[in-house]
Amino acid sequence: MKIRIGRLFIITGISSLSLALLFGVLAAVQFIFPDFIPEIAFYKARPLHVSLAVSWIFSIGIGAVYNYLEEKEIIRFQFAGFIHWIIYVVTGIFIIVSYLKGTFGGREYWEFPPVLSIPILISWLFFGLVFFSSVIKIKNWPVYLWMWSTGIVIFFVTFLEANSWIFDYFSNSVVRELTIQWKSYGSLVGSWNMLVYGAGLYVMEKISGEDSYAKSGIAFVLYFVGLTNLFFNWAHHIYAVPASPWIGNIAYVISMTELFIIGRIIWKWKGTLTTAQKFHHKHPYLFLLASDIWVFLNLALAILISVPAINVYTHGTHVTVAHAMGSTIGINSMILVAFILHHFSWRKSWWIIIPYWIINISLLCFWIALIGSGILKGVAVVEGTSSFQEIMISIEPILKFFMYSGAFLALGFLILLFHLLFEFLQDFPENIFGKTE
Ligand code: HEM
Repeated sequence: MKIRIGRLFIITGISSLSLALLFGVLAAVQFIFPDFIPEIAFYKARPLHVSLAVSWIFSIGIGAVYNYLEEKEIIRFQFAGFIHWIIYVVTGIFIIVSYLKGTFGGREYWEFPPVLSIPILISWLFFGLVFFSSVIKIKNWPVYLWMWSTGIVIFFVTFLEANSWIFDYFSNSVVRELTIQWKSYGSLVGSWNMLVYGAGLYVMEKISGEDSYAKSGIAFVLYFVGLTNLFFNWAHHIYAVPASPWIGNIAYVISMTELFIIGRIIWKWKGTLTTAQKFHHKHPYLFLLASDIWVFLNLALAILISVPAINVYTHGTHVTVAHAMGSTIGINSMILVAFILHHFSWRKSWWIIIPYWIINISLLCFWIALIGSGILKGVAVVEGTSSFQEIMISIEPILKFFMYSGAFLALGFLILLFHLLFEFLQDFPENIFGKTE
């Protein structure tokens, strides 16, 4: 019996995102009504939302890698992959339970008790074993294999770095701990971008039916810029750490170049497709197109908030959250949905087209609301004209708009995700335990 590990991860990702959306809406409601569901107060709802959203990105990114190995029938040590999935899911459940119980202990983004980092690291070793032993003999690697390899190795290293605070040498010095902590977060985002961009380029290759894009010069430029970004990303994310301003400026430029190149690649690829290809793959095509538009919107925002005169007002406000969610939803999630849609045949088109429009229109409102509330708060704080309470009262209408558009965004995604799960269950258990196609 051959277990389709790629599909197990995809189901896990869909479940993670469904839960992430529910906790996200809960956290948004708590902006307006702080006492709403006090058992899962904001301090629990936020990390639950963020960790599950990150788990969605990793699950589908990992699923894409396994799916590739299974599709090409080159997967080795498949049982190790299955163990990887089991550890991933069991650790995830422990993390959710520990957040719900209010048992924290880690640092930002990894707020669960640090002992749970051990199974995560072990599961990643299984992933590395399966991946590298399967692809080692392939010659003339397409760019996505380089991206996935880099993502796998860098995640492991960066996750170790993120946990270095457990040693006194790091936690005894605030500057040292903060520096390493934020350096690791920058690389962490870089490592999941490698998995996601790899999945995106693989889908683009499959839709166009030729491998020239995944071996083109521009694709490798994207890889090297992404790699550089992965090392320098931290420099424009943390201002508390003493560092020369030129390092931060270089980091900004690299990060924006990466966005520009991925945007250009998708745009040019779109131009090479025939009408028949666009029609035949219309669902993944639409989501890739949406991701491209979001690349340019986020690029525009990134350019604006990198201007020092504007950054003074926006730094640390909801504008930064708009930047983070605009990228994780608009760019990463759209590419990941395109990947899922491409790899399975979805019969009911309207169950994809309707949520597609709900998601994109509400995401635009959601994103604008975050930027609006961030700017108003930033201006009031910097100019020091109002008290905290006055500021919160003045931005309340925008927070309500954020909450409603967020609820629609969640609704759009949930319709899509439940439709995907429903379709998936139609062919269960053959699609998980059946033969490799
Ligand atoms: C694909 C869907 C989503 C993804 C990938 C996602 C991702 C994220 C990420 C990465 C953060 C952390 C941002 C930061 O640290 O700056 C965040 C925060 C947050 N998200 Fe989402 N999100 C999604 C959907 C939603 C939805 C539908 C809502 C509902 C309104 C929502 C509400 C929130 C809230 C309230 C926060 C905390 C903001 C704060 O701390 O001020 N998210 N999300």
